[in-house]
Amino acid sequence: MDDLTKTAVLPQLKTKWIGRPYAYIETITSTNDLLKQRAAKASDAEQLHGAVVVTDYQSQGRGRLGRRWQALPGTALLLSLLLRPDWPAAQSLWLTMIAGLAAAEAIEALTVVPISLKWPNDVGIDIDGIWHKVGGVLVEGSVGANGRLQSAVVGMGLNVNMTAAQLPAGITPVTSLLVAGGEMVDRQALLLAFLARMEHWYETAVVGKSPVAAWQKRLITIGREVQVSQGDEVLGGTAVGVDQWGQLRLQTADSTIHTITAGDVTLRA
Ligand code: BTN
Repeated sequence: MDDLTKTAVLPQLKTKWIGRPYAYIETITSTNDLLKQRAAKASDAEQLHGAVVVTDYQSQGRGRLGRRWQALPGTALLLSLLLRPDWPAAQSLWLTMIAGLAAAEAIEALTVVPISLKWPNDVGIDIDGIWHKVGGVLVEGSVGANGRLQSAVVGMGLNVNMTAAQLPAGITPVTSLLVAGGEMVDRQALLLAFLARMEHWYETAVVGKSPVAAWQKRLITIGREVQVSQGDEVLGGTAVGVDQWGQLRLQTADSTIHTITAGDVTLRA
């Protein structure tokens, strides 16, 4: 139980291609960094489609917008997955969506914790209208001269068995599945469920079926008053929906609809 090593995980893995190859490295700088380096070596990049790297501890874990991602050894699910989608670059956010959906479904299959998503990449729980982050997705892609996404590393970090005292301090409230659900969660079972749901959603997307509707249903952001920070600029308004690529549609007080591609979203009470 809770064993993430290759010998423990591979016999239980039900996927066709995600997690093949699978690597467990007890301590690493960042699983995203390792897979990015490997993908950059053109010789084996083809075979790496679906490769997964899992760790128990990252010394230089990274989040979006250059933030640090920290977790004490053995308390989180930390992994990266290499995909070679060959999608238009504008469709990159689909990878964040399917990873968020896969994480939500895997968590809900194993716990009593109802999961929401916050645009663009947060996984968490709404507790009395206050967003509590449980995890996040970090997609780092490389776009070819043809404008298509050649390869992408999808990093997922979930706060699983951290006690309240072990939770990292953040700008938004954070929690863990243990704190929110009151029970320890088997990280191996969570990993297996996540990879299975990820394969499902990716295969659905590859045949052209958009994950946007399922994603939007879980997005706590929609219908809320939000503030979007983009560098020094802050835009306030109502999040009215997302477009086909997953960009946020924000309506400001003058009724203008703004399309937001990237940024930090704060939900107003
Ligand atoms: C975020 O919420 O900003 C995204 C966090 C993503 C963290 C994961 S942990 C595994 C992978 N390796 C990293 O360095 N980051 C991602």
